[in-house]
Amino acid sequence: MKLWGGRFKKSESKLMEDFNSSLSFDRTLYKEDITGSIAHVKMLAKCNILTNEERDSILNGLKSILSDVEEGKLKIEGNYEDIHSFVESNLLDRIGDVAKKLHTSRSRNDQVAVDFRLYAKNKAHEVVENIDKLKSTIKEKADKNDFIMPGYTHLQRAQVVTFKHHLMAYHNMLERDRKRIVNAIDILDESPLGCCALAGTTYDIDREFTAKELGFKKPVDNFLDGVSDRDYALELLSDFSIMMMHFSRLSEELILWSSKEFGFVTIDDEFSTGSSIMPQKKNPDAAELIRGKTGRVYGDLMSLLTTMKGIPLAYNKDMQEDKEDFFDAAKTVLSCTKIMEGMISTLKVNKDRMFAAVKKGFLNATEAADYLVNKGMAFRDAHRVIGEIVIYCEDNGKAIEELSQEELAKFSKLFDEDVYDFIDYNNSLNRGIKKNLK
Ligand code: ARG
Repeated sequence: MKLWGGRFKKSESKLMEDFNSSLSFDRTLYKEDITGSIAHVKMLAKCNILTNEERDSILNGLKSILSDVEEGKLKIEGNYEDIHSFVESNLLDRIGDVAKKLHTSRSRNDQVAVDFRLYAKNKAHEVVENIDKLKSTIKEKADKNDFIMPGYTHLQRAQVVTFKHHLMAYHNMLERDRKRIVNAIDILDESPLGCCALAGTTYDIDREFTAKELGFKKPVDNFLDGVSDRDYALELLSDFSIMMMHFSRLSEELILWSSKEFGFVTIDDEFSTGSSIMPQKKNPDAAELIRGKTGRVYGDLMSLLTTMKGIPLAYNKDMQEDKEDFFDAAKTVLSCTKIMEGMISTLKVNKDRMFAAVKKGFLNATEAADYLVNKGMAFRDAHRVIGEIVIYCEDNGKAIEELSQEELAKFSKLFDEDVYDFIDYNNSLNRGIKKNLK
């Protein structure tokens, strides 16, 4: 059944029908679509546009469609233009002509806008819940692994940090990701139902009522805006992209750290795969897939930004392209959050390998320079002196703390017995990271 056709002399070509149909993907919105229709019908009866009998008949029909779909008794397939046509056709089959009153004072433009906002809001809440779970897993893993490790800049060993501190950097990033999404939910939380095609309706409807019924804070203020912007989807896609960028960096580190070259962590077998030819291989596929899927979510954002950029107000069919981008990104972000959570919760941290890397990396060179500064030398001079000491250490295969006092004295008379304590890795952690942060 078509929801239109009265003004056409010829029927649509099969090619056009397939090209125009969105059922294969907007079937995802069946629940939101029926929920929106339920609120709309209740409002129509409340405003005396439908009788209570008509309302009840339509409500029963809609509810039976919903439960049949959920129980698998009714498959969303067939020759329908979109999910809206599918629901309305099925309603007509079930309750007869009264079904034709459902669409009074509504357009598919506000209908789809309401469906999509409800869907985006629910998915965003689901992402937030999953972020919370991942955050607590990261915190737990960090607290249990408060071990010294090398901190890097330029992927060169720089100064000592702890595994806990390093991992908690991602906890902080995730907290901001969470705030961004919660804020986006707050901004999108307005109901477009009642905007109709673009200009509202002359029926005396109650948009406050439907907004409340659907759990929105309020109805939108402008009809054209309500049916034709998708900025909320773009905002969430941006937030998801930033979150994936964080995941991708963490994935990259897990891939590096789990290599034999680093050996800082072991990714559990549950989140690794093997090679079909090389029997010794254990590959960090979970982390690589997250890193790879980051590009996909960026692509979804770019795609919708580009779709939206030249569209005049109000609704245009270009906007049907919003759904697949958003569905794909939401699904990807959710699965990546779950996989990351599994990977972190089962991760083994190899304390000894990290400490061995600390010892080989002159990670107390900055502290050694600070020591000389405390004894009265200017920092720039201290920097040069320690640089010379590092060359000496490299030539002799020693760490700074392994030099004798006599050796140190050749570089500066300011070195004393207390230098060894000062440049001890744990002591510098206590004076730095541990003192300055909770
Ligand atoms: N499938 C359409 C979409 O997703 C529904 C709205 C159709 N509106 C219209 N005026 N043709 O955007």
